[in-house]
Amino acid sequence: MSEQAYTSLASWWPVLSPPQDYDELAVLLMGVMQQGLTRPLKSFLELGSATGHLGSHVPEQIELVLNDIQPEMLEISRKICPGREHVCGDLRTLKLGRHFDAVLIHDVLMYLPTPQDIAAAIQTAKIHLAPGGVLLLVPDAVLETVQPGIAQGGGDAADGRSARFIEWHHEPDIHGAFRVDFSFLLREANGEVQQVHDVHHLQVHPYGLYEALLTQAGFELVDPGELAEVHGGLLILAKLTD
Ligand SMILES: C[S@@+](CC[C@H](N)C(=O)[O-])C[C@H]1O[C@@H](n2cnc3c(N)ncnc32)[C@H](O)[C@@H]1O
Repeated sequence: MSEQAYTSLASWWPVLSPPQDYDELAVLLMGVMQQGLTRPLKSFLELGSATGHLGSHVPEQIELVLNDIQPEMLEISRKICPGREHVCGDLRTLKLGRHFDAVLIHDVLMYLPTPQDIAAAIQTAKIHLAPGGVLLLVPDAVLETVQPGIAQGGGDAADGRSARFIEWHHEPDIHGAFRVDFSFLLREANGEVQQVHDVHHLQVHPYGLYEALLTQAGFELVDPGELAEVHGGLLILAKLTD
C-alpha cells in the first residue's frame, strides 16, 4: 500500500513522533524566520503542517495558520493545536487572500516531484507574504547530499497506545527520485498489534534549483549563519524583495 501514513494512520502520528519532542525545533525555526525579518514575527503560515507538532509550540501571541492536503492529518492537528486556524488544500495552489510575516515549509518538499511543483510552492508562499516577509524552506535533503539510510523511532502515549517504526530510504536515481519503505508496528491500548508496510515515492532536488526559483520569484537569499542545517535538513531562508 502507498502513503497510508498521512490518511488511515494519521491518528498514530502523535504516538509515533510525540509533539513534545518538537519544542527545540519549533523555537529554532521561529528564530531563523525572525533572523530574516526587520520586525517582530507576529504571524506565519505553515504549509504541509501534518498533525501540528511544530505548531503546538508556537506562542499564542503569534498568529499561526496550519495547512495540509490530508483532512485526516488536520483532524488530529485541531486537537493538538486547538484554537488555531486550519486550512485543507494543496500547497501548490492554496490562496487564502491574506498576508503573513513568514511562510514555513518544513519536511514536505520531497513530496513535490517536479521543479514546477517547487516553483508553485514558492509562488504560494509569495502571495501570502506581506512586504519584507520571509520564506523558510527546510528540505530534508538536496540532490548533492542525499544518502540512503535508515531511521527509526516511536513512542508511548498517555492513552495506552504505543508505536514503533523503521524508515528505510533507498538509493536515489540520478534524477533524485527514491523510494522509502516504512514499517509501522502499532500497539492499541488493549494490547492488539498491527503491522503496516507503507511505501513513499519521494524526490530530492538540487540546491541550485531552490536558489534559481527563489531568485526568479523575487526573493533574496538570506544567510542563516551558523544555523545552516537542522536535524539533517537544510535551512533555506529567503526574503521577499518586491
Ligand atoms: C513528513 S510530513 C510533514 C511534517 C511537518 N511539516 C512537520 O514538520 O512536522 C509531510 C506532510 O506533507 C503533507 N503534504 C504532502 N504534499 C502536500 C501538498 N501538496 N500540499 C499540502 N500538504 C502536503 C502530507 O500530507 C504530510 O502531512
